[in-house]
Amino acid sequence: MADAAIVFDRVTKTFPKTAKPSVNETSLTVESGSFVTILGASGCGKTTLLKMVNRIIEPTSGTISLFGKDIRQQPLTELRRSIGYVIQQIGLFPHMTIEQNIATVPQILGWERSRIEARVKELMELVHLPDSYRQRYSRQLSGGQQQRVGIARAMAGDPAVLLMDEPFGAIDAITRGKLQDDFKEIQRQLGKTVLFVTHDVDEALKLGDRMIVMNEGVIQQYDKPLHIMDKPSNSFVSELVQSDDLFQRLHLIRVSESMVPLETEAPEHYPRLSADSSLKDALQLILKRDVPYVVVEWADGQAAGQITLDQFKLGSGR
Ligand SMILES: Nc1ncnc2c1ncn2[C@@H]1O[C@H](COP(=O)(O)OP(=O)(O)OP(=O)(O)O)[C@@H](O)[C@H]1O
Ligand SMILES: [Mg+2]
Repeated sequence: MADAAIVFDRVTKTFPKTAKPSVNETSLTVESGSFVTILGASGCGKTTLLKMVNRIIEPTSGTISLFGKDIRQQPLTELRRSIGYVIQQIGLFPHMTIEQNIATVPQILGWERSRIEARVKELMELVHLPDSYRQRYSRQLSGGQQQRVGIARAMAGDPAVLLMDEPFGAIDAITRGKLQDDFKEIQRQLGKTVLFVTHDVDEALKLGDRMIVMNEGVIQQYDKPLHIMDKPSNSFVSELVQSDDLFQRLHLIRVSESMVPLETEAPEHYPRLSADSSLKDALQLILKRDVPYVVVEWADGQAAGQITLDQFKLGSGR
């Protein structure tokens, strides 16, 4: 098993003068390198959960640790530098250029000028922003471009963990799709641990290799996206994720996130498909070729695992 990056142990947050806790007795382990999406309605406690990790909000009770260390046992500045944070509503510094925005953490860390310049250049390439934008201000960029700067800024100090609070919420669907794809690719390449809050079911299913469904301060289910659809733990979860267009949902999930180990060597004639195909592709192939499973293979042709028809039997876990 991978190391735990973030562990919540019975964490509760009750704000002063409120009747109910915003986050209630929550225990949660986020493995290192995983992309965890948090889905839930407005006011269910998503932002509160996120902000407790970098201590913008202090829990009322319980402990949170980062890579095995209680977050209260490390200096606050050090903790915050080790965590990239993209806030709800972008939040670029308006009086600073794009370059200065991205360089915020490296500046604080006292890096040499040449190193900062190289890092800014590298990050702008990573998030696909033209170099000519360096001297612009955020108001001179589109919403989607600003969001790319926000991501670059959060990654500047090379944090192992990224907290992202509805980073793509205010962006049109087409741009959002592109940002999602680009960011998922970046996360894969760099192996960052990501906690990503969203209102959007499709976004949560598409980006997460694990997904949390929250309601009224309580985690309802924490599972692989396919399991959340297949085996919702209660009626709240099933109502939230159910869709008239199941195929559309399956199209969002990559087979590499959902495959199971190969049980035996597959017969020659069993179809194979690449690890970056979607579950929709897998199900279509299974039905078309009338086989119980298909073999998933990596780009080099090595077998990676299998997707079986049984995995699609909705509600089978209930
Ligand atoms: N500083 C605060 N003081 C009092 N109550 C607060 C405070 N911050 C948040 N809350 C309450 O805690 C609950 C959870 O808020 P939170 O911001 O975590 O929700 P959220 O899931 O992020 O919602 P949204 O999707 O709208 O961003 C809400 O009922 C909110 O009113
Ligand atoms: Mg919020």
